[in-house]
Amino acid sequence: MSLDRRTFLRRASLGAVGLTAGAQLSAADRAPTLPTFDERAPEKFWSAVRDQFPLSRQLTYFNTGGLGPASTPVLARAAEITRQLQEKSEHGHALHEGAREILARFIGAESAEIAFVRNATEANAIVAAGLKLAPGDEVIFETHAHPGGSFPWANQEKLRGVVLKLFEPATDSSDNLARITALLTPRTRVVQVSHVTAPTGIVMPVDAIARLCRERGIWFHLDGAQSAGMFPFSLHAIGCDSFATSGHKWMGGPLETGVLFIRRERIIEVAPTLVGAYSGELDFLPGELKLVSTALRYEYGTRNAAAIVGLGEAVLFQERIGRARIAARGRELATRVRSGLARLPSVEILTPMDAPSAMTTFRSAKLPYDQLFARLMKDHAIRCRPVSEQKLNAVRVSTHLFNSPAEIDALIAATEKILRNA
Ligand SMILES: Cc1ncc(COP(=O)(O)O)c(C=O)c1O
Repeated sequence: MSLDRRTFLRRASLGAVGLTAGAQLSAADRAPTLPTFDERAPEKFWSAVRDQFPLSRQLTYFNTGGLGPASTPVLARAAEITRQLQEKSEHGHALHEGAREILARFIGAESAEIAFVRNATEANAIVAAGLKLAPGDEVIFETHAHPGGSFPWANQEKLRGVVLKLFEPATDSSDNLARITALLTPRTRVVQVSHVTAPTGIVMPVDAIARLCRERGIWFHLDGAQSAGMFPFSLHAIGCDSFATSGHKWMGGPLETGVLFIRRERIIEVAPTLVGAYSGELDFLPGELKLVSTALRYEYGTRNAAAIVGLGEAVLFQERIGRARIAARGRELATRVRSGLARLPSVEILTPMDAPSAMTTFRSAKLPYDQLFARLMKDHAIRCRPVSEQKLNAVRVSTHLFNSPAEIDALIAATEKILRNA
């Protein structure tokens, strides 16, 4: 990078920093006022939370696991930053720094360990492509991994001869540790699990898996696309080496936002596949590219800073409501889904009844899953997600902070009606 370009970038960043500080103040001032949470009458509070989402009232939305709607404060913040940046025609990359601090707090990490990427798939792929692996080195992950978690490894199988060892996730979460242990060999280099599995919402015993990997010097990568924003956790407490998530699911961030975490002392072990401005320094050509020592090395080129600021706002939005409260609400609604559906004669619940997740996957012997999914949508405007993975042939229901008990009751009544007439 030439000196002039660097000077320009620094000046542009300084301008944008001024913008951050001012805009943060105004965002705090505009924070939605929610009623005090009253345990004896919680629906008043949750109804005010629902009012913060422009999500259509014509739709009963149970697909946060696919894509989470953003709230009005998030959309307003992203629009405001877009406007401010356009007024000066600035890229605003320096605005990432405020969001990075917020995200670090949210996932229990340092800001130097975080890179903003476009989605969870990209974060998973950076780790899969960047770790130094030789042909025959083995990677363990579950058969229920989402394509965003499995394809990056399938690609490394093709490109580098990495060997994939798969385990069927157990519904009793603690069995998963034994299933992983059974696959370990001296060639095991990486263990990856979904924090919460996408097809059926199983929560993996991540603390125990992290311990196992640490004891054996195995890299532990956690795919948290379904966990970040569903319940609180700390990556430092878990002790994984790397972590990926989407901002546009349970966190309620803008589309095309994702986060990659790599434990500080291990950043050096993940070679970046794509680099450019921000990843490092190269004063003169020819010369040696010096990568920055932080996870910033995985960011490059012009990005949509407004979306990343919007993701920070999504975190603030959840914090204002209370992360533990959101987790408890999602679980409570999932319990209502599970017990309501379990009462229907032909229904089989694939998610463990006590799984501490906010997802429930079910199927019925009376009607193919794709027809059940389509009927719920077409006749009742209830949006779930069909689960075709591993021939599970089921329907998934995600329950999040904007959903209500009344919506769950409508889902159960609609399912009962559809199945009665099937
Ligand atoms: C476990 C898991 N990993 C990765 C992904 C891919 O997410 P994204 O579309 O943000 O890349 C998903 C999406 O559902 C997922 O459930």
